[in-house]
Parts: sequence; structure tokens; C-alpha cells
Amino acid sequence: MKPITFNNTVLRDGHQSLAATRMTTAQMLPVTATLDGMGFGALETWGGATIDSCLRFLAENPFDRLDQLKAAAGKTPHMMLLRGQNIVQYTSFPDDVVEAFVKCSAKHGMDIFRIFDALNDARNLRTAIRTVKSLGKHAQGAICYTTSPVHTPAKLAALADELVEMECDSICIKDMAGLLTPRITYDLVKAIKSRHSLPVIVHSHETAGLALASYLAGIDAGADAVDTSIVPFANGTGQPDTLRMQAAMAGHPRAPQYDTAKLLELRKYFEGVAKDLTKFMSPANDRVDSDALSYQVPGGMLSNFRTQLVEMKMEAKFNEVMAEVPVVREALGWIPLVTPTSQIVGTQAMLNVKFGRWKNLAQATVDIALGKYGRPPGPVNPEVQALARKQSGQEPVTGRPADLLAPRMPKLREELAAKGLPVSDENAVLFAMFPRETEAYYKPKPAAAPAAAPAPAKPAAPSAPVLPAVPGKTSRYALTVNDRRYEATVEVLN
Ligand code: CO
Repeated sequence: MKPITFNNTVLRDGHQSLAATRMTTAQMLPVTATLDGMGFGALETWGGATIDSCLRFLAENPFDRLDQLKAAAGKTPHMMLLRGQNIVQYTSFPDDVVEAFVKCSAKHGMDIFRIFDALNDARNLRTAIRTVKSLGKHAQGAICYTTSPVHTPAKLAALADELVEMECDSICIKDMAGLLTPRITYDLVKAIKSRHSLPVIVHSHETAGLALASYLAGIDAGADAVDTSIVPFANGTGQPDTLRMQAAMAGHPRAPQYDTAKLLELRKYFEGVAKDLTKFMSPANDRVDSDALSYQVPGGMLSNFRTQLVEMKMEAKFNEVMAEVPVVREALGWIPLVTPTSQIVGTQAMLNVKFGRWKNLAQATVDIALGKYGRPPGPVNPEVQALARKQSGQEPVTGRPADLLAPRMPKLREELAAKGLPVSDENAVLFAMFPRETEAYYKPKPAAAPAAAPAPAKPAAPSAPVLPAVPGKTSRYALTVNDRRYEATVEVLN
């Protein structure tokens, strides 16, 4: 029997989940060659929130990071997380921007593109997958795991058929909230493996303490690889630690043979890095959190929620808001809770509790209800959809949302030139997603030094703490989640 392969996530999901994505390239480089020599199936080094974090907090060019990591670790394939049509942002981009982003990433050495859509709408994956394939790179289609009455294991496994039809090279079961249980993991892997021969990778988080057991069950069902990280950027809200996972497989016919001494060396090194990142780390992230199971929301979302509710002086309403989350999810067609939908559902749940159910719809709620993010897994509540139509004056989108977006690359190049920024496809795609941050990177202001970046544990106060209560009045307010600012227009309808 083939030993199980571990992919290592310490350079991406590990510190994204446990240290607010703040690990710098300089902190990675001293051990990149060691990681490269371990024999991992892939090193997840890029994508997800790292690109945003490089520009926003670390004064780093994300493509330079990729160049440096690739030069230091040339043997192991590099892997990135790509949010389909959202690229690494929160809204949809036109096809030409998605294509340009994938081309630039491939040019800078990216090998494996793990591509997902928050709604599991395969139409949002098509452009990215097609571009990856056209460049001869590895397209890994991801199925976002979530629990709801419309997410049966059979339905989730059926998404694998669509990914295979789009010529994906492998399939990832992506459990961003750590909700997979051993038995369900076993059934899902079996269901996919019984229909398709391509590799299946299981990605989970130890938030609720289930990931290691689920990995073992997935391995017994024939999974080809699992994602692990290295403590202190492992376990808790991150992936299981590599050493721990290896220890759990002692005596298993598929036990892997990763060099224990080297893993201990890596652990020692990353403990030093964690000391420098203390202010971005929280003991709450290390705790096995049964809240994650009872509320069925990602662990990261829970800690953000607590902070936001305090900011809004709604901390006494925690249970009420949490109870509202499944109500919002159901009304929006049982959308999975993963970036960006977790933020959207969370914000709407707070608005519902604050003003009364559906009295105020955030703009993003309106967009989801009108299909602008794609097709939700279940039907949208007709009452909410009617309110969304009324508020926006727009009709629901039934086709692929990106079909409504005009090409932007020529315009983006013009905008770069007009701002006196270096014109390149790399800068155009960065500017498309992070205009202010890209501009600040090239034209740094003294106040924008990375040391001045606020700690994630203390989000900025909402800019308009007094929310409107007068019917017919609209006003804008802002929420900060994980250092990301969300602006929403709130209208009191009655
Ligand atoms: Co993850």
C-alpha cells in the first residue's frame, strides 16, 4: 500500500489560521530549503490571504515572495489557494483578470492551483481551471465542505463529477471550518474514489478537534494526501501538526516516513518565529472549541464575531446572533460559511438582531440573494429575494455572474500608467484587487510602515457606531473583520 503523502501548509494556511497571515518572507526563507528537502507532496506557499497581507501589512510584493520561495525550494511543487472568480479577493472579477492572474502566478513558478468557490458553483471555477490547464499546470478542484439539509454527502460527491468534467488533475475536500467527522470523511472519499481515479486530498482544520481522526478515516478510504502544518502554526484553528499526524499513523500500513529530527528542527525554528508574531496570535485559536460544532461556523469567524459584537456594544446578544446565523444561511440558500460568505452571513445576522429580521439588508446580502455571487446550493427565501429586488431595483442573475463583467485588463494598465505606477500584468491584477494597497506599496507614506499596522485582535471601531433607526433613511457604516474593512449601506425600511 502506498504511504500517505503530507502536503505542508505552514507557509500559508498555518500562519493564516494562527497568526493572522503575518509571517514575512524573511521569516520563511531560513527553513525553506529544509521544508523543500522533506519529501512533502506540495508546499502551500501562496494565495489565500497572503497576497493581501503582503501588500497591506508587510510592505512586500507578493510576486517577489513567490520568486524567493520558489528559488529557495525548487524541488517540491508549490501550491496556492485560489478563490475561483474572486481570485484572492471578496468580489467577482472578469475573466480576463482571472486569466492574467493565473498566468502571472504560473510565470512566477506556481505549480498547483487549488481552486474553490464559496458557493460550490462550478461555473465560478471554469475560467481559472481552463487557464491553469492551458499553461500545463496542475488544477486541483476543491469541494467546500459544509453541513446543511441540502449538502448531502452524495451531492457533495457529485460536484466531483463536474470537476472531473472540467479536467481537474486532483480533487480536494476542503473543510475550512473543521466540521468533517471521521465517518463522513470516509464516506466522501469513498464516494469520490468509487467514481473517479484521480487523487483526492483532504484539507481540514483542528478547530473542533476532529481533523486528525477525520484524516485517518479519509486515509483508510483511499485518500492520496492530507494537509498538515508545523507547530506552533498547526493544530487549533490550523491543520494538524505533521509530527502528531505521523505519530498517529504508527503501525498503519500507509504510515509515512518523514524525518522526525528535521521536523523537530523545523518546530524549534517556528517557535522562534511565533515569538515575534505573539501579538497576532491568541490562545483561543489553540483551544479545541466545541462552540465551532454547536454553532457550525468556522472558528476564525467566532473570534471575529466576539470582537465585533463588543465593538457594537452587542456582546450580550452573542447567543441571539449565533442563533440567527443558520436563519440567514437558510434564507440565502444554505451557502457554505467560507470567505467571503462567512463575513456576509455574520454581518447580516448582526443586522437582523439589531434591527429586526430583514429590516436592514447589507449590500452583500442583496447581491447573494440576487445570484451575483453564483447559484446558492439551495433556494433563496422569496421574501428576502423580494426585499433585495426592491432595495437594488435589479432582477436576479441566473447565468454565470462573470458573464456580466466587461474585460478590465486594458483599463487597469491605463490606470496604473495614469497613477505613475509600473505597468505590468502583475501590477494590473494586484491593482484590480487591492488598489489602495498596491498604490501604497509603490508610494509608501511614513504612516503606512508595517510596524504601524493594527493588531488583528483589536479591530478598528465601526466608523459610524450609531446605526440608523429612522425609516427611509440610509447611511453607511463600516465593520472591520481580520483587519479588513467592510462598508455597507443600511436602509431602514419601516
Ligand atoms: Co484551510
